[in-house]
Amino acid sequence: RKGKTPEEVVKKYLQKVKSPPEEVRQLQGLSPGVGPVSRAESVGRLAQCGHQYHFQCLVAMYNNGNKDGSLQCPTCKTIYGVKTGNQPAGKMEYHVIPHSLPGHPDCKTIRIIYNIPPGIQGPEHSNPGKPYTARGFPRHCYLPDSEKGRKVLRLLLVAWDRRLIFSVGTSSTTGESDTVIWNEVHHKTEFGSNLTGHGFPDAGHLDNVLEELRAQGITEDDGLTE
Ligand code: APR
Repeated sequence: RKGKTPEEVVKKYLQKVKSPPEEVRQLQGLSPGVGPVSRAESVGRLAQCGHQYHFQCLVAMYNNGNKDGSLQCPTCKTIYGVKTGNQPAGKMEYHVIPHSLPGHPDCKTIRIIYNIPPGIQGPEHSNPGKPYTARGFPRHCYLPDSEKGRKVLRLLLVAWDRRLIFSVGTSSTTGESDTVIWNEVHHKTEFGSNLTGHGFPDAGHLDNVLEELRAQGITEDDGLTE
């Protein structure tokens, strides 16, 4: 995918709309009327979800992101291509520990250990060249070692490879900026207690994580092939 221009990437996921309806013209700030729009105002339909956009708006949106060859519909969040993030360099490890989590008495526990050192922000971050801090690492996280827990682990490994588990930004907990933060996929960081709300028991946790992974474009199919 490297080497494709932003225009080429956007074109790949769009179907031409010759005569966009008035509603789309209004929403996209195009000249009103019937019939074809000018080349400069060209409108396309995103191939899978069908939402219509001004071609140049999608190119601008793509240029604002990390330009990984993927595109996300601003309306319904459908992902085209493979979405990747800007998680900084580090390590993800896991192993099974012979204890049960509250709410999962019948199985052992998977412990994931994330370790990310501080560093310097790259072009994919909001302040390139500026250092970022990394607090509370290694961060230990827990999953039940059940069939569903192992499925979540497989998909988290895919998310890690796509740099989607962490990001660099402002921590909503501490208010610190330019620091490593969790990115939209919830993890349980407490083992035997639930003082922070990020512990067990939580019956809906695995399904929530699967849903959050899906929102990042990671589904069960990914766990099989990668
Ligand atoms: N454990 C798991 N998830 C957490 C925690 C925690 N202790 N604190 C916050 N989150 C979740 C939040 O619910 C939110 O969805 O992470 C997301 C981002 O929150 P931030 O506060 O911006 O993330 P971050 O600064 O990375 O985490 C705060 O979590 O693991 C600890 O050491 C870490 O103290 C830090 C805290």
